[in-house]
Amino acid sequence: MINAISLDLTQANLLQTLNLIGGRWQAAQAAQEFEVLDPADGSVVARVPDSAACDAEAAVQAAHTAFPAWRDMPAKERARLLKRWHDLVIEHQDDLGRLLSREQGKPWTEARGEIAYAASYIEWFAEEATRANGDVIPSPVSSRQMLVIKEPAGIIAAITPWNFPAAMIARKIAPALAAGCTVVCKPAEDAPLSALALAGLALLAGIPAGVLNVVTASRERTPAVVDVWLDDARVRKISFTGSTPVGQHLARRSADTLKKLSLELGGNAPFIVFEDADIDAAVEGLMAAKFRNAGQTCVSPNRVYVHEDVHDAFAAQLARRVGALIVGPARLADSQIGPMINQRAVEKVESHLHDALARGARVLTGGRRLDTLGPRYMAPTVLVNADPSMACCVEETFGPLVAIQRFAHEAEVIALANDTPYGLAAYFYSQDVRRIWRVTRALEVGLVGINEGVLTSEAAPFGGVKASGYGREGSVHGLDDYMHLKYVCQGGLE
Ligand code: SIN
Repeated sequence: MINAISLDLTQANLLQTLNLIGGRWQAAQAAQEFEVLDPADGSVVARVPDSAACDAEAAVQAAHTAFPAWRDMPAKERARLLKRWHDLVIEHQDDLGRLLSREQGKPWTEARGEIAYAASYIEWFAEEATRANGDVIPSPVSSRQMLVIKEPAGIIAAITPWNFPAAMIARKIAPALAAGCTVVCKPAEDAPLSALALAGLALLAGIPAGVLNVVTASRERTPAVVDVWLDDARVRKISFTGSTPVGQHLARRSADTLKKLSLELGGNAPFIVFEDADIDAAVEGLMAAKFRNAGQTCVSPNRVYVHEDVHDAFAAQLARRVGALIVGPARLADSQIGPMINQRAVEKVESHLHDALARGARVLTGGRRLDTLGPRYMAPTVLVNADPSMACCVEETFGPLVAIQRFAHEAEVIALANDTPYGLAAYFYSQDVRRIWRVTRALEVGLVGINEGVLTSEAAPFGGVKASGYGREGSVHGLDDYMHLKYVCQGGLE
């Protein structure tokens, strides 16, 4: 097991390996643990609590106890504490980036960038906290004064993914705290250390004990923890980022207590290059959108459609760029593509690759595992001759595999792009302003990138439609998901 020194952390207490419940770091009550592995080589990074139902209950109790005082704290004071949390995250950006890249595998510069991205959500919601304004309604009768006030939803259960283990925590927890909610959080078992480190900084910032509680659990024990939160009527909202089947399960299971839900689920993003596109910009955009985090991103382009007139030029230029990507462990400064998060992830990319080849796709670059680096490295791959029957065009590959399909007509490609249950992100490249607005209106998604590969931001609403879920994170809309409206009518005024 490595420690803070071998991780090269300047601030040793960022490496937290216990649950945070009621402001105290504590082991699981049954003293069980599980191992967090470095995806680069499978070595053990740390052991963290393998929590059970009793730990989940303790976390809810702590959040419940802390709720009235946090709810009643003036928004300006909550904002001040969030701002201090933001400042501490930025102050420890390098250490947090090291920790993140070690447990998650993304290259150091990307990991460092993710910490800044996470901090941007905390800062944004610190500012939004003071703007949770209600309404004064012009009353239809003169004897009444009618108002709407916004109130925190209550205790929030945040269930966060491994692919952006810092940013997704911040994107859920910062608006919850800003709204006056308290939180119980279960980070993904593959990458829980970033969550624990961020929670430690929240405590240091002065966020009171019990306002933010983090409980870790292995894949096997996660259902026991989450079931407690689903069944407890005091938990008023679930915010989840992950797969569509798990999101559907959470929606079904939370029906009995009628919780609010924010579900950021799977994607199958189309990336369309029209014949009038700037090809250099389109290649650049696809490189940025697809190979960020080795393709393990919900908004990653998954189906690439290129107009037949520019197909060969685009594919050749893309293959040259992809073939030059440097694959390696996060700790090496040059690495641009790290390992996949776990064995299941590698196997999925491989199975999509083999399926596509069996159905007639052709490899332009990559197309294999990089066994000399270790069992979890995939060569960044470009395939041509892809078609909609291939698994990589139907399901999210979540890896560094681009499969290019040709198209001839705008209407055809829009129909193909929308022919999926999912609706998270879509990208297209065109220089024709009329086409740009036609296509934007026609795409059935929550996020559209026009001539842009990296579109997410704390200032923009993130979320999908159809099987990609509902709810919006970030932006001026992000606070509302953690609040409810109370209508107040005062009568007898005449
Ligand atoms: C995700 O797709 O999982 C998050 C990506 C982002 O916020 O940029």
